[in-house]
Amino acid sequence: MSTATELSYSTTPGGALTGRVRVPGDKSISHRAIMLAAIAEGETRISGFLEGADALATLAAFRRMGVEIDGPTEGCLSVQGVGLRGLRAAEGPLDMGNSGTAMRLLSGLLAGQSFSTTLIGDASLTRRPMQRVTAPLAEMGARILTSAHGTAPLTIEPVSQLTGIDYHLPMASAQVKSCLMLAGLYAEGETCITETAPTRDHTERMLSTFGYPVRRVGQRVCLSGGGRLVGGRLDIPADISSAAFFLVGASIAEGSDLLLENVGINPTRVGVINILRAMGANIALIDRRTSGGEPVADIRVKSARLRGIHIPLDQVALAIDEFPALFIAAACAEGETILTGAAELRVKESDRIQVMADGLTRLGIVAEPRPDGIRICGGQIDSTERHGAIDAHGDHRIAMSFAMAALLARGGIEIHDCINVETSFPGFAALAARAGLGIEELRG
Ligand code: S3P
Repeated sequence: MSTATELSYSTTPGGALTGRVRVPGDKSISHRAIMLAAIAEGETRISGFLEGADALATLAAFRRMGVEIDGPTEGCLSVQGVGLRGLRAAEGPLDMGNSGTAMRLLSGLLAGQSFSTTLIGDASLTRRPMQRVTAPLAEMGARILTSAHGTAPLTIEPVSQLTGIDYHLPMASAQVKSCLMLAGLYAEGETCITETAPTRDHTERMLSTFGYPVRRVGQRVCLSGGGRLVGGRLDIPADISSAAFFLVGASIAEGSDLLLENVGINPTRVGVINILRAMGANIALIDRRTSGGEPVADIRVKSARLRGIHIPLDQVALAIDEFPALFIAAACAEGETILTGAAELRVKESDRIQVMADGLTRLGIVAEPRPDGIRICGGQIDSTERHGAIDAHGDHRIAMSFAMAALLARGGIEIHDCINVETSFPGFAALAARAGLGIEELRG
């Protein structure tokens, strides 16, 4: 990975996306693979691991807690599990960088340890709400100190015993659900979590793959503490959240015909496909199969005329990370697209409603932010008359979304503050350029 701290993209307008690409491994699954392999018994061999900064921060944290990890080399690594009680205190704080998933899941996993740990992060992560995990963990008996605003740094103190809870999630959040399940592994009795809407279920699936009993009934998931995880093999599929930029790019750019290989199509993640199809996209799932407990397919996408829609509420949690890309699709569609019920977008790596609205407005698109969503009127993306560039505000998904907008823009688009693309999609510009996007990296 580059050591430069500044990265901008310079794009040239037009082009089409063609050929075959394999985007990097799934970020959510990569974090969980390290965490569960570390506390399993025996060795776990992982392939398809995302070598991006977020998942590497998780990997580094477990190394510092005494877990032996060989790799990663081209996405392959082996982890010598230490068992549920085998982690050791790290010297000094663990730095989770930009990763909300790492910090929230680890706070649950560490709440039941016999040592104290402090979790820190970058400026964006330090602004993000952590009470959503510290409050229910406190109900389980955990002791976690936060800043006065309920944010990181988090200091997790040892307690004599956690107790299972029956928790109804106040928001749709797989991070909170997973945090509590990981704490539940260390708790006395049963921990149950009931969701308001289905969210990604990778933790549940992977615990089962490691042989840990998890009971699911409808929107409720339960597990009991004190069991054991058994190491094995895990093949991580390509990340549908990274594929999303290409699904949108190929849909909007005339003449595109692109095959995305081995993409995870877990039903709790496919909102982006459902929404794009409702907008008129031409997307086919080919050779559906299962790998490491997760459904996978190759995805073929061809350009299509998109039309604006009211995004169905039941798709919001299933596409929560893909809205920046979907907003670009909406800007290129005929008519109006309206999103509601997505206030969570305001507390992601950036305020994704405001930052996308600002960028789209700069490109001549009518984009009206609302407290829980946005209204976007499709039109001509036009950067010719305007001065200055798009500011990605250090948000990887904003940067990659605006890069794809160049395919249908009048004039090139410059995007600043893109370095965090390396958190989820190392090599994005090179891969996108190979598929046909006019993109150059400017590093400083
Ligand atoms: C994630 C859950 C989602 C998502 C994030 C990854 C996970 O966050 O936005 O990128 O891996 O569990 P929330 O749980 O905050 O919705």
